[in-house]
Amino acid sequence: MADNIIVVENVHVNFWENNVGVYSIKDLITYRKSPFKNKTILNNISVTVERGESLGILGRNGSGKSTLLRTIAGIIKPDKGTVTVNGSFAPILAIGAGIEVELTGYENIAMLLSLYGTKKKNTNVIENIKSFSELSDEVLRMPVKQYSSGMSARLAFSISLANDSDILIIDEVLAVGDQGFQAKCYEKIFQIKKQGKTILFVSHFPGDVAKICDKAILLEKGELISSGNAEEICAKYNQLF
Ligand SMILES: Nc1ncnc2c1ncn2[C@@H]1O[C@H](COP(=O)(O)OP(=O)(O)OP(=O)(O)O)[C@@H](O)[C@H]1O
Ligand SMILES: [Mg+2]
Repeated sequence: MADNIIVVENVHVNFWENNVGVYSIKDLITYRKSPFKNKTILNNISVTVERGESLGILGRNGSGKSTLLRTIAGIIKPDKGTVTVNGSFAPILAIGAGIEVELTGYENIAMLLSLYGTKKKNTNVIENIKSFSELSDEVLRMPVKQYSSGMSARLAFSISLANDSDILIIDEVLAVGDQGFQAKCYEKIFQIKKQGKTILFVSHFPGDVAKICDKAILLEKGELISSGNAEEICAKYNQLF
């Protein structure tokens, strides 16, 4: 029998959207109709991931990829449908998400490690984060708001690797890293794959998805329009443009 680590069944996610320019409480009180409309972000999504499988998630900007990851991670509660996850994951979902920009790199490491339940005093863990991120002591003492997007991505991804979770979630982290960091990330991702861990991988580069993932899904305006073998779905993604 298949060992399913993630089962998403008929998931719907709606967000309330203010599209009529109501910007204050006074506007809100004096406006006659509801200024908010219910917008469907994910429409009846079902997907299953087996333990050790790598799933690629492809789709245009705004198609719902990050929302699906957030729903799987339990950050967003679906309006309808169910999500079952039989494993642990590091909740760093996107470039900088989970990272507190007012805090320094070191403070973020301490905060996120304690959120994961990793012992802060474990200097090995901190050393591993430092060495993978290649961020200097001086940079790690700076507030993250002073980091470049590549530096934030290095910090976020290195912290998520330090958490020895069953599922690794990668949302476009490779896009902002320089060539050296990208190569290192690939190597690490393949190593993690070999260890039999499950990977959810969002990228706008179908070549990366084909290399890393066993299977993939293609989202379009919140709907799952195709799923199957990664190479086949990458070809379908290319046909969208
Ligand atoms: N908190 C929110 N409130 C309202 N709408 C939102 C919210 N977060 C996302 N959306 C909307 O949901 C849709 C899907 O967004 P999402 O971030 O999941 O797309 P994506 O596929 O990850 O896009 P990208 O490739 O640009 O990262 C977009 O139309 C976006 O405007
Ligand atoms: Mg996204």
